[in-house]
Amino acid sequence: MKIFLDTANIEAIKKYLELGIVDGITTNPSLLLKEKSRDPIDLMRNIVKLVDGPVSLEIVAIDFEEIIEESLKLANYGDNVVVKIPMSSVGLKAINFLTKKNIKTNVTLIFSANQALLAAKAGATYVSPFIGRLDDIGHDGLTLISDIVQIFTNYDITTQVLVASIRHPIHVIESAKLGADVVTLPPEILQKMIYHTLTDKGLDVFLADWGKLKKENPNLQF
Ligand code: G3P
Repeated sequence: MKIFLDTANIEAIKKYLELGIVDGITTNPSLLLKEKSRDPIDLMRNIVKLVDGPVSLEIVAIDFEEIIEESLKLANYGDNVVVKIPMSSVGLKAINFLTKKNIKTNVTLIFSANQALLAAKAGATYVSPFIGRLDDIGHDGLTLISDIVQIFTNYDITTQVLVASIRHPIHVIESAKLGADVVTLPPEILQKMIYHTLTDKGLDVFLADWGKLKKENPNLQF
């Protein structure tokens, strides 16, 4: 399963890229807003340059012609750009158009398996079901992932299931068990996946015991 970072924070992107565990980035207008001091256009261009893997950049137009105009501009930022388009009729029309031009798309704000199926039929490279927001309103986000994975498997659909709106590490484990292609994570959740209290405790003991060995033999070294 691929891991994308769901952030526009350059420092976080650099930090986790260095660990070799991040395959791509997803952004949206709300994530750009969080980086208040940075120009959003510069920020998107910088992220595209910094990352080798796919970087999703979201359009904000509603009208078809404007969606295409924005999409073509964003696609021009780099070969690794994936144009992120909110689910709608006009969005599907745009995905169909962009797919024919070999531009990759990520259909965002997916809340049903039918939406995912239609986005895939239109040619989407990725669909982004928002599981946390479904959980927030008392639905089961992971059931949606299970349904989409099953449908895509049944019909050999190559559109990738990109699980978004992830709230905690268990969402990641369950998404992986269900066979999702990608999870996109806020940096805080990736950090929580790295950490385990028993790892820290165990390391303390190893270091303390090495200290005792060193006391017995001060010349001890690798
Ligand atoms: O990519 C955006 C998606 O992950 C939204 O997350 O936490 O705003 O529901 P959230």
